[in-house]
Amino acid sequence: MRQTITVRILVIGGGGREHALAWKLSQEAEVICAPGNAGIAEDVECVSVAAHDFAGILKLARDREVDLVVVGPEDPLIAGLADALREQGFATFGPGTVAAQLEGSKAFAKAMMQRAGVPTASYQTFIDTQASKEYVRKMFAEGKQVALKASGNALGKGVIVCGTLSEGLEGIETLKALGEASRTLVIEERLTGREFSLLTLVGDHGIYSLPVVQDHKRVFDHDMGPNTGGMGTFSPLEWLSADIVSQTEAEVVTPILQALRDDKLSYRGVLFSGIMVTPDGPKCIEYNVRFGDPETQTIMRRLGPGLADALMSASTGGEITPIPVSADHVVTVNLASGGYPGEYSKGLPIFIGALGARVKLFHAGTALLNGQLVTNGGRVLGVSAVGDTLAMARETAYEAIGQISFPGMHYRTDIGA
Ligand code: AMP
Ligand code: GLY
Repeated sequence: MRQTITVRILVIGGGGREHALAWKLSQEAEVICAPGNAGIAEDVECVSVAAHDFAGILKLARDREVDLVVVGPEDPLIAGLADALREQGFATFGPGTVAAQLEGSKAFAKAMMQRAGVPTASYQTFIDTQASKEYVRKMFAEGKQVALKASGNALGKGVIVCGTLSEGLEGIETLKALGEASRTLVIEERLTGREFSLLTLVGDHGIYSLPVVQDHKRVFDHDMGPNTGGMGTFSPLEWLSADIVSQTEAEVVTPILQALRDDKLSYRGVLFSGIMVTPDGPKCIEYNVRFGDPETQTIMRRLGPGLADALMSASTGGEITPIPVSADHVVTVNLASGGYPGEYSKGLPIFIGALGARVKLFHAGTALLNGQLVTNGGRVLGVSAVGDTLAMARETAYEAIGQISFPGMHYRTDIGA
């Protein structure tokens, strides 16, 4: 008789992405999450150890004899958590600190893209503010527009896309005020086109791309207002052909992994490529070294069984077996705190009524306060609905939102539209 061995997985993080991962993985493994949040705790065991507490995480992994650690957020990866775990012998899903610079330093990422021949916007890097302003003047004089980027990690506030020279010059001042993250500025030519996210599982022996998904990054309807970490996602994308996806894998994913390998850098984790489909083909806007949020909430709802196995294989040097993907349409709408992406308050009570069977509520920033569910972050909840068509998934998601409220709650009404 075949014996089933239960794999024990530790998921690090406490947002909507980690909720989606923990929920999905718990269908085929025993899952612990650290630190998790109030909603994750409804699906799996949460242990109160912070993602930046490396010693605490190593101890937890040891005490619980976990088989695999999946690191959710970028900060601990950039700070070397995956290296520390692997040094202690834990199979870990997430790149080491050097490869994580693909996300931690936009200057590093652009230099690697150039070396690897990845199609991307032309750019220059600057430390000197006057020189950066000169460059912006020159770009506008040539009839081009710019995207200004703080090279370091600026928590989603580090990119300003500028349509006029005065926006460009002001944008430089705004970014410079961020301090350390913007010591180096990357200034790119502004590209135009539609965007999508390609998340690719990467091991030493092969890659496997998850279904493509589209994020809505601006805070208000019709793509108005400032950028956020993401206000909602949907998948599949009817406007995107399979050929463009294959072309993206071949031109954006494969060459950058080869460039890392040339530098003797192994990459075990997920590579997130932010792509803009321009009139000249797909171009890489950015890489992230972790699952997207809220992309992952949508993706997890389309996957069949096999994620635990795929993450384990990627982490241990095995081949990644493709995961079945359903033909369902999924729409995930994020409900945000009043003021987000600017300042917002926490600790406000959340009320949730009956949600339909095709809805899953992912918690992004929630906590329990004396038994009451309260807000605990900028993005609070992700309402994820499945439908036979995009329109049906949308309708189901927005119907469910009618059952949810907290003071100051706001969301986009055009996700997937
Ligand atoms: P990032 O943080 O690099 O993903 O940038 C945030 C958003 O800014 C992207 O999703 C794009 O919408 C926009 N963006 C970044 N770089 C460019 C560019 N070179 N041209 C046009 N838009 C850009
Ligand atoms: N939703 C965009 C990101 O995860 O960076």
